[in-house]
Amino acid sequence: MERTLVLIKPDGVKRHLIGNIIERFENKGLKIVSLKLMKVSDDKARQHYSVHSMKPFFEGLVSYLTSGPIVALILEGDNAIISCRNLAGATDGSAAAAGTIRGDFSLNIEENIVHASDSPESFNHEYKIFFNENEIMDY
Ligand code: TYD
Repeated sequence: MERTLVLIKPDGVKRHLIGNIIERFENKGLKIVSLKLMKVSDDKARQHYSVHSMKPFFEGLVSYLTSGPIVALILEGDNAIISCRNLAGATDGSAAAAGTIRGDFSLNIEENIVHASDSPESFNHEYKIFFNENEIMDY
C-alpha cells in the first residue's frame, strides 16, 4: 500500500474540474485519505517546488500555484504513485496522451491542471507542506 500527494492546481479549480478529476482517481480504485480546498502561500509554493528553485520557470510556477485556491489530496492504494502519474499524463499538456487529465484539459506545460508526486521521497517531502498527520484518515 502506497500514498501519494495530488494537487488540483488553480486552473483546475477555476475551470470547475474538481469533480471530474477526483472521479478519475476514485474510479481507478484509489482511496482518498485526506482532502482540502486551500490557498497556497508563497512560502509553501516555494517549499513544494524547491527542487526547481534554480530553474528559469520557477517564479512563474510559484505565481501560478498561488494564483487561486487548490484542492490537495492524499490518495492511497497499491502503486498509488505511478498510477496517479499515469492518470495525470505527461507534464506538457500538448504532448500528454488523450484520456489523461493533462491530455484532456491542458494545452501547455505552464498550466497543467494537476500535480502528482513522482516518488516516495517526493511524497514524504510534499505532503507535510499541505497536511498535518492528524488530518490523514485511517479507514
Ligand atoms: P516537473 O516536476 O518536471 O513535472 P511534473 O509536474 O510532471 O512532475 O515540473 C514541475 C512543474 O513545473 C510542472 O508541472 C510544470 C512546471 N514546468 C514549467 O513550467 N516549465 C518547464 O519547462 C518544466 C519542465 C516544468
